Amino acid sequence: MSVALTGAAAAGIRQAAAQAQPNIALIKYWGKRDVALNLPVVGSLSITLDSLWTRTSVQFDAALSQDEFLLDGRRDDAQLRRVAKCLDLLRARAGTHVRARVESSNNFPTGAGLASSASGFAALIVAGNAALDLDLSLAEQSIFARRCSGSAARSIFGGYVEWTRGKRDDGSDSLANPMLDASAWPLHVVVAITSKREKAIGSTEGMNRTADTSPYQRAWIDGQETDLVIARAAIQAHDFEKLADISEHSCLKMHALALAAQPGLLYWNAATMDCMHRVRALRASGVPVFFTIDAGPQVKAVCEPQAAAAVAAALREVPGVLDVVETGLGPAARLIELDELAVA
Ligand code: PMV
Repeated sequence: MSVALTGAAAAGIRQAAAQAQPNIALIKYWGKRDVALNLPVVGSLSITLDSLWTRTSVQFDAALSQDEFLLDGRRDDAQLRRVAKCLDLLRARAGTHVRARVESSNNFPTGAGLASSASGFAALIVAGNAALDLDLSLAEQSIFARRCSGSAARSIFGGYVEWTRGKRDDGSDSLANPMLDASAWPLHVVVAITSKREKAIGSTEGMNRTADTSPYQRAWIDGQETDLVIARAAIQAHDFEKLADISEHSCLKMHALALAAQPGLLYWNAATMDCMHRVRALRASGVPVFFTIDAGPQVKAVCEPQAAAAVAAALREVPGVLDVVETGLGPAARLIELDELAVA
């Protein structure tokens, strides 16, 4: 299964490459019941995107004395520890200690609330699984990806995806499952980029601070199952208005919870707020669109495909919006050829 070059194989190198897309949660994940295993306090539901991607190659090479990680052509020692931890999971399953060189590229800004860790770690697991001939099932790939970065569990699959909270302490029942193909209800997402800086407070730190200090943590956990039931029904029925209402509710509730932490977590800037108002005004005027926002300042406007051009034009006019990216819903993570790695 591994995509090994003849010369590389002869030199003892086992390598493969994969592509994965970010996913955007409509019913949010926020809070960990086990930090080491990335087990969530709540289930969540997401959509996988199409035209934003991470492409990653992994080369297990006996000649290496340590793991190496390059992001967009540059060594990234800050992220190396996380990448190495993820490689350790694959190595433990394969029963090998061979170090690896990982090269990754994103066609969108990293670490700014566009779910680059979700696509990044999903791609790493898919490529690593192939390079080491592990034959992991999709369920196992989702669990491995979850352990590297929670929301990466969902980027193993395309379209509409649900990540089950699970009950077991070892996390063996906390994985994502595909709910509905992208083609069955091909919504679009218009991302308004309002900052290209890396966010100051990562999601793990934010979640832990929230769990420790936010007075709304219990209410958040208690309300999630109801939100999931409503969202599942809306997706099955292709009921846009119902999905809009419950998704905005989940997003605002997650941010309310985080805002009430001490010190409060404020992921939005002025343009983020203006975009939210603009989306609400569009919806009030009959345009099928709603917003969702993760642990960063970007606004993701989810809309019916025929509304995407108008939504993009409206968000582009909002002061402080630097860029607008439009995408459909995308497929599952998958293997690619090594020569597809270059940024298109
Ligand atoms: O997977 P993480 O640790 O990057 O956390 C993701 C958290 C949110 O994006 C805010 C919500 C979600 O469900 O993706």
